[in-house]
Amino acid sequence: MKVLIVGSGGREHAIAWKVAQSAKVDKIYCAPGNAGISEFAECVPIGAMEFEKLAAFAKEKEIDLTVIGMDDPLVGGVVDVFEREGLRVFGPRKNAAILEGSKAFSKDLMKKYGIPTAAYETFNRAEDALSYVEKAEMPVVLKADGLALGKGVLICNNLDEAKAGIKELMQDKKFGSAGDCIVIEEFMTGREVSVLSFVDGKTIRIMTSAQDHKRAGDGDTGLNTGGMGTFSPSPFYTGEVDAFCKEHIYQKTVDAMAAEGREFKGIIFFGLMLTEKGPRVLEYNARFGDPETQVVLPRMKNDIVEVFEACVDGRLDEMELEFEDNAAVCVVLASAGYPVEYKKGYPISGLEAFAKEDGYFVFHAGTKFAEDGKTFLTNGGRVLGVTATGEDLKKARENAYRAAEWVSFENKYMRRDIGKAIDEV
Ligand code: AMP
Ligand code: GLY
Repeated sequence: MKVLIVGSGGREHAIAWKVAQSAKVDKIYCAPGNAGISEFAECVPIGAMEFEKLAAFAKEKEIDLTVIGMDDPLVGGVVDVFEREGLRVFGPRKNAAILEGSKAFSKDLMKKYGIPTAAYETFNRAEDALSYVEKAEMPVVLKADGLALGKGVLICNNLDEAKAGIKELMQDKKFGSAGDCIVIEEFMTGREVSVLSFVDGKTIRIMTSAQDHKRAGDGDTGLNTGGMGTFSPSPFYTGEVDAFCKEHIYQKTVDAMAAEGREFKGIIFFGLMLTEKGPRVLEYNARFGDPETQVVLPRMKNDIVEVFEACVDGRLDEMELEFEDNAAVCVVLASAGYPVEYKKGYPISGLEAFAKEDGYFVFHAGTKFAEDGKTFLTNGGRVLGVTATGEDLKKARENAYRAAEWVSFENKYMRRDIGKAIDEV
């Protein structure tokens, strides 16, 4: 089989690595990919939003299956373009990717079908939002309706912050048209857990749980980032939590989408908060998490291509997912200054160490080749994700931090407390 993967980050590197394990696959392409991904895939210079070009490439190369890693092309309808051309593709159509693409849609869906989530109101006019927060209990959470690179969520502790936030999203249009409509939500507290799942339109199969660390600094301080590290499984995702979510959240979401005429095929990523009143959905994503994927896929036993195909063909009910009885931790190596301002273009050394021991992975998020075509250079805020497995989370964390020292580049920065939350249990 020939497989095309669309995307260019650590998530797509992890997907490409996993696809490369499949006995069914003899050639992998990635568009646009990155320097690290080229170890497993031939990278082709087509952007993830160039749908027609991607489809033409898939036809020309007789690609058997295309896997879309990123949210933007899914929400923009890349799957519809591929299907129109008679190409096999893994991911939700545009009318289903709206589960991630519009917070107002996903909140209304949860309300209509009784899926537990924070109480909320939706606003299309800044004046209405302003008069609402005048009377609301603080803190409140403001969310831009559309995609905003994961940054369209503002937690406001008092009325002044809420007013400033509404201005930023709806009047100053900090996130463009994503802020034409906003959701104002009740503030909840609790532990956050990410749960990824495969869905074939009817059946859902849950992968293992994970947890992300979104803030730039140790102790969850500093600015929000694309994710500074992850661990899997989450010890807070107990059997009781799992049973609750199976009864009230997972299948209900899949059935709700089908009932709305928006059959969902692909990955649903449930962002959950474990509140005192039980698990609540914080958000849905319509794709693998980044960097959750970098800890989930190294633990997965199945041939991922078989699972992708079962989803596309609507026969996921015939399949069970299996995960190793171990743990994994991913520490992101970033460029100092990320997420605000940072320099790029520094040579990276030490990567060869990863091939020498089992259970260690380095997934490239932002790298490129130097002119010699061999030396890796830093090419982004997040540069690499160093993942290690271990018999338990503590061991996996030790291993990941040991491996993080193998790698050197100028301005290398990492959090020192990824997975530390696990000491609380
Ligand atoms: P989202 O993009 O909706 O997942 O929001 C990003 C982050 O904002 C989440 O991971 C939470 O940390 C936080 N957040 C979102 N909604 C709420 C809420 N209702 N209460 C408290 N924190 C929230
Ligand atoms: N790690 C969170 C996300 O992928 O959205």
